[in-house]
Amino acid sequence: RKTDQLVFFVNGRKVVEENVDPETTLLTYLRRKLGLHGTKLGCGEGGCGACTVMISKYDNFQKNGATLYSVNACLFPICALHHVAVTTVEGIGSSKTRLHPVQERIAKSHGSQCGFCTPGIVMSMYALLRNRPNPVMEEIEENFQGNLCRCTGYRPIVQGYRTFAKTGKSEGCCGGKASGQGCCMNEKEDNAAMVSSILFNPAEFQPLDPTQEPIFPPELLMQKNKPLEQLCFRGERVMWLQPATLEELLTLKAQYPAAKLVVGNTEVGIEMRLKNMLYPVIIAPAWIPEMTFVQYTKKGIIFGAACTLSSVEVVLKKAVAELDSYKTEVFQAVLDQLRWFAGPQVKNVAALGGNIMTASPISDLNPVFMACGSKLTLASIEGRRTIKMDKNFFTGYRKTALKPNEILLSIEIPFTRKGEYFSAFKQASRREDDIAIVTCGMRVLFKEVRNQVKKIKLSYGGMAPTTVMAGKTCQALMHREWNEDLLQEACHLLAEEMNLSPSAPGGMVDFRRTLTLSFFFKFYLTVLQKLDSELNGNNNPHELVPYEYVCATKVFHKDPVNNVQLFQEVPAGQSVEDMVGRPLVHLSAAKQACGEAVYCDDIPCYENELYLTLVTSTKAHAKILSIDTTEAECVPGFVCFISVKDIPGSNVSGIAFDETVFADNMVTCVGHIIGGVVADTHEHSRRAAKAIKIKYEDLLPIITIQEAIEKQSFYDVPRKIEKGNVQKGFEESDYIVEGEMYIGGQEHFYLETHCTIAVPKGEDGEMELFVSTQNPTKTQESVASVLGVPENRILVRVKRLGGGFGGKESRSTIVSTAVAVAAFKTGRPVRCMLDRDEDMLITGGRHPFLGQYKVGFMKNGKINSLKVSYYSNGGNSADLSLAVMDRALFHMDNAYNIPNIQGEGTVCKTNMPSNTAFRGFGGPQGMMIVECWMNDVILKSGLPAEQVRKLNLYDEGDLTHFNQKLEGFTLKRCWKECVKNSEYHTRKQIIDDFNRQNRWKKRGIAIIPTKFGISFIIHLCQRAGALVQVYTDGSVLLTHGGAEMGQGLHTKMIQVASKTLGIPTTTIHISETSTNTVPNTSPTAASVSADINGMAVFNACKTILKRLEPFKSSNPKGSWKDWVNEAYVNCVSLSATGFYRVPGLGYDFKENKGNPFDYFSYGVACSEVEIDCLTGDHQNLRTHIVMDVGTSLNPAIDIGQIEGAFVQGLGLFTLEELRYSPEGDLYSRGPGMYKIPAFGDIPTEFHVSLLRDCPNSKAIYASKAVGEPPLFLSASVFYAIKDAIFAARAESGLTQPFRLDSPATPERIRNACVDNFTKLCPSAEPGTFKPWSVRV
Ligand SMILES: Cc1cc2nc3c(=O)[nH]c(=O)nc-3n(C[C@H](O)[C@H](O)[C@H](O)COP(=O)(O)OP(=O)(O)OC[C@H]3O[C@@H](n4cnc5c(N)ncnc54)[C@H](O)[C@@H]3O)c2cc1C
Ligand code: FES
Ligand code: FES
Repeated sequence: RKTDQLVFFVNGRKVVEENVDPETTLLTYLRRKLGLHGTKLGCGEGGCGACTVMISKYDNFQKNGATLYSVNACLFPICALHHVAVTTVEGIGSSKTRLHPVQERIAKSHGSQCGFCTPGIVMSMYALLRNRPNPVMEEIEENFQGNLCRCTGYRPIVQGYRTFAKTGKSEGCCGGKASGQGCCMNEKEDNAAMVSSILFNPAEFQPLDPTQEPIFPPELLMQKNKPLEQLCFRGERVMWLQPATLEELLTLKAQYPAAKLVVGNTEVGIEMRLKNMLYPVIIAPAWIPEMTFVQYTKKGIIFGAACTLSSVEVVLKKAVAELDSYKTEVFQAVLDQLRWFAGPQVKNVAALGGNIMTASPISDLNPVFMACGSKLTLASIEGRRTIKMDKNFFTGYRKTALKPNEILLSIEIPFTRKGEYFSAFKQASRREDDIAIVTCGMRVLFKEVRNQVKKIKLSYGGMAPTTVMAGKTCQALMHREWNEDLLQEACHLLAEEMNLSPSAPGGMVDFRRTLTLSFFFKFYLTVLQKLDSELNGNNNPHELVPYEYVCATKVFHKDPVNNVQLFQEVPAGQSVEDMVGRPLVHLSAAKQACGEAVYCDDIPCYENELYLTLVTSTKAHAKILSIDTTEAECVPGFVCFISVKDIPGSNVSGIAFDETVFADNMVTCVGHIIGGVVADTHEHSRRAAKAIKIKYEDLLPIITIQEAIEKQSFYDVPRKIEKGNVQKGFEESDYIVEGEMYIGGQEHFYLETHCTIAVPKGEDGEMELFVSTQNPTKTQESVASVLGVPENRILVRVKRLGGGFGGKESRSTIVSTAVAVAAFKTGRPVRCMLDRDEDMLITGGRHPFLGQYKVGFMKNGKINSLKVSYYSNGGNSADLSLAVMDRALFHMDNAYNIPNIQGEGTVCKTNMPSNTAFRGFGGPQGMMIVECWMNDVILKSGLPAEQVRKLNLYDEGDLTHFNQKLEGFTLKRCWKECVKNSEYHTRKQIIDDFNRQNRWKKRGIAIIPTKFGISFIIHLCQRAGALVQVYTDGSVLLTHGGAEMGQGLHTKMIQVASKTLGIPTTTIHISETSTNTVPNTSPTAASVSADINGMAVFNACKTILKRLEPFKSSNPKGSWKDWVNEAYVNCVSLSATGFYRVPGLGYDFKENKGNPFDYFSYGVACSEVEIDCLTGDHQNLRTHIVMDVGTSLNPAIDIGQIEGAFVQGLGLFTLEELRYSPEGDLYSRGPGMYKIPAFGDIPTEFHVSLLRDCPNSKAIYASKAVGEPPLFLSASVFYAIKDAIFAARAESGLTQPFRLDSPATPERIRNACVDNFTKLCPSAEPGTFKPWSVRV
């Protein structure tokens, strides 16, 4: 059959595609074919929401109009678009004409930093408002379950969009009720400096006018009455068939039994993209009425198998609201599971049938359907049959009892009867948008004698290759009374029946086993409560269930985020044109919100452009025996394979020159770049790269820190800092504690992955590169070296980055050098943007650390002596690892004065991808170990935590352990203010009371300080350059050495230039960062970019001012433009460079002398959490931060940095876990498995104050660095969790210090809350089995 025409609409314009390839996604089509670059690619697997667009279509399910919903364009097959309308971020507003209110509000509320996530967030909000113009706050927060942001910490987005909510409250801590002075904080103290909580003014926002929205295309409206026709789209490898009737569908399935039925493509799409699966025939049944109907029967509700999960949610919510509650126990359980399922973008397209038929062992719905005995109707050309979903339905891993020519037609979800109870539970790493670790459905039916079990079904996911029933346990519980004895027996039986091999895939074996018992316990108590109220008419649930146990049955509830941000206002009398110190909006925010801001991959394709896909090692340590490209060469569009043989210059690369551009005979980590395939398109190069066959000879790898220590595999000799006499200190101490802590690594997860476009110029070896890098100069050097040309032939240009966080400081060169070689070899422009899985595999991250300590202290809690050893996993090249270790050692005191101290740091050389810079650069790891031993000291001494920490804080004028004097030491002010703002002592009391009254939920609190040294560890980087060019119309083009990656650097630099030159910010423009304007720059890193580039900009501006001075003097009443013109006419240069180098830096490790830092930034945070002792879940209740940022250049940007860093740290210490096989292969290669904080993870109360009156004499306009210092404050959440665990352990009589490694995941929290359930699931003896994953 011939291929059909695909007809759809994008932003109101009709698109007719004659040659559609079913493998193309909507995202690729929008970006590559239609040139609509606003929609971004962040992950390609439905996990980040950067690609969100809105779909409008006539739906069989809702015949009363077009349905509008958000989808992930990265998973949406282009073929599913027939007669559908798409709205992208470009279709709703523009910075050139009018921003849509959704775009305006995120921009003006400072909710866009790097902006890469912004179009997706805009479109999610837009789709919500199109359906609900007046949402409530809970709906808004739930709506963002499918969107991630790595920069902002979410608070500003929520705050900006709160203005759309029905109950949107006024801003400020007092809701603007203060008398006259704006903020209530001004009334509390007699302070000269005025405080403000107003970062933006909602009164300026345009109102939302739903009548102004684009209408559904009339042409598509006409289609609704026309009969459907069968469609066929043929591509290179895949044929897409869209039958119009059920009969056609069944005939096609008989004809192509191996064909996949695709509805949402949220499973199949991922299999094809990430698992290299190919399904040559796809059948799309979504338009067939029999597949999308909903019908009430006497026994329940029947849903067509293609009903989307969102539509199921709507129907079930209505049923639960309208029917007797005893009937809807299963419906409620399905809703509970769907609440913590994927985000709306997935649920809006994913089908109920798709979830069942994927037959995933961690499906959230299958345990529910199995436990309630749902009926499935199957259909084939031969007829229909109805079966029960029971233990026979799943026949193996991802296999079901369906015959090849059968399809799932519908599913009946039953009502429950009186005396029947049902619950479902799920535990995942992250609450929002995460697949389950263990999930379950539990049902019990009682006999007439109402507490005797008649039937019981317990079904689990995550405990076997399929969803399983706990058959034996259920059998033993029949006819038993629902009491303590039954509970005890059930737990013993479940522990036996739901057993797992210690090597089981997925790991977390003890945790998973314990969860099966914890869930049953929750079910037991829930049913007991219901029985109590029904049998005894008892509304007091404490009759059968003890009061302290009721908490175990409470479902998770979170109040909408409440926030206060306070900063010092500019002094009265500051000119309105002087923007320094004001919360000026990030200057690209509006463009970012409209999808107009150009990132590297948004640069339109060159006519003859090619694409490079890297070919990387699958072995951690091996010799390369052969590389076979034969199969790859047969892939259409293949151009060439590049490898070490194609390098015209030097193959040596890396910061320490211990790396190669392409592996030469030997690979030293999984992900080591061996070569690359160049082809005409990304899809073809990806396919061909997968077809390259490499033979290896295995060598023994070193993967973990432990293995490296055993084999003494290190970089350089250990670094040491020592002060005082440690031994004597121990002897004089009252107590000594020793311990160890491991801190896991962290993936940068910038939303924009690494990207380079290299364009050979064809003359004199010139090449122009557009790179997503924090380090244009290093890129220029590396490319020149690999091509064997002088650096002056290489031009590197950086417009903006979609986040960097240190990940694009040194590692971006591994991509750009490879792309440059490809461009050199082919003589054509070559592009490469890493896929998320490649980026995570290849580019390294934050170093995992192991800390071993011994600390001596006095009875009053005063620390006397500390000996600490740090080990980090550096990976297969030195990169910046030694400097990272240096910083860890410089921070081994955190903020405490330790008279006798000795620290040693060793970087392990392993067969892992090289770890690198990451916001904080070893500082957070160094300080985390400090707070670990401090916590031990607190527990051991039995003294109040706040008292011990405060006692040990430094004072003004103290010398640090590296003998640098602390001047302008504001930490104690931050501490005092934070204790006061957080009401620490009152909260501590409330928490103690809570913990006494609740056995299975515990709360904890911690207040943590930070002191962060400001300067590059490598001091020659403490320099910056700027170029100011003034044009005859008075406009100024500013360029400096820093790259804009969301941190607002360009905005701050324009503020500095504007103040210095005395002209409005609107007169000044920054176009890009490039090696031909400001040469030999330092990387944009170490938090110092605003400090050093700010001074360089200042110096350049001063030069210009000096040159203009004569013209100003002769015409004092003239304007800026007049003086500039005069200067021009008089042949005075209007272009000036500025340079700055930080004076007085230098440190000698041997002598322990000199100043490694220019100054320090200080902050304190107090956090409060609640943990669920049964599941390990935790909730961040409150955080108060007080931070010294000097005199803020821009309070909105600085608060954004504080919150963003804090939330990134929250991920590091409580959530993000990279999982590796014992062979060093990374399992967690995308947002599906690697969980960064989502909207729901931020503290419900989130307060940030900038310390007042603390000008810093060391940096531009009295400001301070802010990018990295606040990150460590998130340790307050970790130690609050540890505090809560301590309370849980005390219930089991455990009151000694205990070990908790980072991150504090649900697994670690649950395992640490030792109780009778954990005792029933003992760990296997280490060394007796091969674990699925290892701690690296
Ligand atoms: C970001 C993300 C988050 C997710 N979160 C969760 C989660 O929290 N919990 C969870 O359980 N799942 C989750 N999933 C998995 C997935 O979304 C669901 O399983 C979804 O319901 C699949 O439906 P679909 O229509 O997209 O399936 P598709 O990809 O279209 O199809 C899936 C499979 O089902 C088969 N199939 C579909 N319909 C039929 C039919 N009628 N008859 C026979 N075979 C059929 C297909 O042939 C294919 O093999 C998530 C997926 C993503 C991408
Ligand atoms: S790119 Fe589509 S969800 Fe991440
Ligand atoms: S602004 Fe959200 S990812 Fe950068």
